[in-house]
Amino acid sequence: MKINNNFNNIQESYLFSTIARKTNEFKTAHPDVNVIRLGIGDVTKPLCSQVIKELHSAVDDMSRAESFRGYGPEQGYDFLKEELVKYYAKKKVSLDNNEIFISDGAKSDIGNILDLFDKDNVVLIPDPVYPVYVDTNTMAGRKILFMDANGENGFLPVPDDSVKADIIYLCSPNNPTGAVYDYEKLKMWVDYANKNDAVILFDAAYECFVEGDDLPTSIYQIEGAKSCAIEFCSFSKTAGFTGTRCGYTVVPFDIVKEDTSLNKMWLRRQTTKFNGVPYIVQKGAAAVFSDEGQNEIKEAIVYYKENAKIMADALDKLGISYTGGKNSPYIWLKCPNGMSSWEFFDFMLEKANVVGTPGAGFGKNGEGYFRLTAFNNRENTIEAMERITKAINSL
Ligand code: MLT
Repeated sequence: MKINNNFNNIQESYLFSTIARKTNEFKTAHPDVNVIRLGIGDVTKPLCSQVIKELHSAVDDMSRAESFRGYGPEQGYDFLKEELVKYYAKKKVSLDNNEIFISDGAKSDIGNILDLFDKDNVVLIPDPVYPVYVDTNTMAGRKILFMDANGENGFLPVPDDSVKADIIYLCSPNNPTGAVYDYEKLKMWVDYANKNDAVILFDAAYECFVEGDDLPTSIYQIEGAKSCAIEFCSFSKTAGFTGTRCGYTVVPFDIVKEDTSLNKMWLRRQTTKFNGVPYIVQKGAAAVFSDEGQNEIKEAIVYYKENAKIMADALDKLGISYTGGKNSPYIWLKCPNGMSSWEFFDFMLEKANVVGTPGAGFGKNGEGYFRLTAFNNRENTIEAMERITKAINSL
């Protein structure tokens, strides 16, 4: 028996597990301190009333023989996929039901999609980035090339024709930096992928935070993307499903590599390894698209964005530079006084009793940066920014 030794090449613990452990250690040592968590991007608002109503009614369905559901379609029920087709149509993107696959969230699919690709592909990943892209490829022993996302390129790298990549990860609005690709820059990536026979894995988990129509919220709003891009999204940040679990992946029919349809491969993969998302959860997710559901989730998004504004205003007053916060629930700030990311993490925890995420955890270019999330409640957000202001002013 041989283990997968590639696990020796990843950090011993996942970034957010390390932060949770450090926070819990601090809380055990200081039981009376009220620690405010602005670390992992987890929502705090409960599910909206339309979703709750539909969840209850779906539970009742399960109590009657005539409406009871056993195994469902592994790729999701049509009632939810039809809602998503309509949602995409509003973005002027036309999709077929069978191009959409319902899952338990974007993170799982982003890891699982790698089943479709040979080990010997060159993977191009921006740095800094959501650690799942790097960790899942490292676990599989794939070669990773990094592209620098930094202050100079506004954390939005564009293709370099001298680099030959087969699989490209893009996340917009970006986790962790909050930067958002515009149409022009995203088109450069689509053109690059089509020219180089590459596939883009586009993480749109934060699309609902984009304001106005000037910025793309789906890669399929870019001409040519259907032949090269797979899009991942979820109800986690859109509708507070981080604990309820529901997401979706779009694999267009037009992506054909080596005469093989990636859509067919993904269907084969999912029907073999996945038994679908619970009927009850999918009913709840479908309720997000009712008129009332849309109004309710938009209210929650506005609330989180107001939190982001409070945070941004406090940083402006402190003279600390940052990106994000506008079209994103994340604020990506430069650590003061030249502190490293983890030094600032410890400083914040000890002096302000606020947890954030050290930028270095997202890659080498994240060193010296720090990420805060706007997903806490108003009271905690205000209190956290007051404490941070006081702590930084004491430096
Ligand atoms: C984050 O904090 O980066 C995200 O919440 C992690 C995730 O969505 O898995």
